[in-house]
Amino acid sequence: MTRGPDWLSFRRYAAFTAGMALTLISLGIYTAATGAGLACAQQWPLCDGGVLPQSIPSFIEWFHRLWAMITGIFILGAAVWAWLGRGTVSTRGRYAATLATVLTPMQAIFGAITVTLNGALPGGYSAPVHAAHFLTGFSIFALLSYTTILAYDGRFSRDALSRSRLAVGVGLVGLLLAWVFARIDPVSSYSPPEQAAFFAVSLSAFAGLLAATRWLGELDELVPRVATGAAGVLLFVGMLLGRDLVVYSAGVRFVNWLVFAAAVALTAGAAWVLRGVEPDVSEPVYGSTDD
Ligand code: HEM
Repeated sequence: MTRGPDWLSFRRYAAFTAGMALTLISLGIYTAATGAGLACAQQWPLCDGGVLPQSIPSFIEWFHRLWAMITGIFILGAAVWAWLGRGTVSTRGRYAATLATVLTPMQAIFGAITVTLNGALPGGYSAPVHAAHFLTGFSIFALLSYTTILAYDGRFSRDALSRSRLAVGVGLVGLLLAWVFARIDPVSSYSPPEQAAFFAVSLSAFAGLLAATRWLGELDELVPRVATGAAGVLLFVGMLLGRDLVVYSAGVRFVNWLVFAAAVALTAGAAWVLRGVEPDVSEPVYGSTDD
């Protein structure tokens, strides 16, 4: 069987696909925030009576769908590769990629319901459908991130401590950047570009916290591991509060603020604890070039 170019490994392919999904979610958020959700004359899979959009709002929605189609093909490719390359991809990695693939057509159906299935479902453009579309999109991204993290197992050029510190750093910087664009920031107007940026950095921070939580399991460090896991959960809640699923009252804003403050404090605490941990010199470090 032809192996393809040396640089093309499953782990890089999975990481690229997770990046495509992150971009797709930001595009979806931008679509919703600009009010372009019902552009394309509420049609699906056509747009404005044809294949191509006829206005700027239609283009925004159409581009989200186009990106979704390309990303969907990549996600399917990840599952196929995971099963064909059984020897190199772990069982959990295979199932995570497969679940992401199963969720993708469901997500397209939620998208189609969002645009009311050409007017056949007048109540399709509603908060529960938006919530389902957001949650499924987030789950696809989380599964692809997890697939990528698993695919890197045993192929690292850094020890577990350095990797964990790096991942916690990504989580912390991502959380602080997310704060700048977040709904709770009085300086942010939470405009469409700010909303898209908020989700892009929040999802990057989430992937960092997920990686940290996994890699800290290789060290005997329970406290920072629990902290990064809890920070990931809080960040997810913060992202949910960034959508219009509940009325954003002053009380909700305060809860949102608390959630973010707790996530930052937990991640900073984990970084602080890891500063004092000594590296395990007996741990083997693998090269990153073999696949
Ligand atoms: C893997 C595929 C997809 C992902 C990950 C995805 C993700 C998202 C996300 C995260 C949002 C923002 C939801 C929110 O406001 O909280 C969104 C919005 C939207 N998506 Fe998708 N999407 C996908 C496929 C599709 C497809 C195939 C359609 C087809 C019509 C679609 C139509 C829409 C529409 C119309 C909105 C705007 C909803 C609004 O105005 O509130 N999506 N998408």
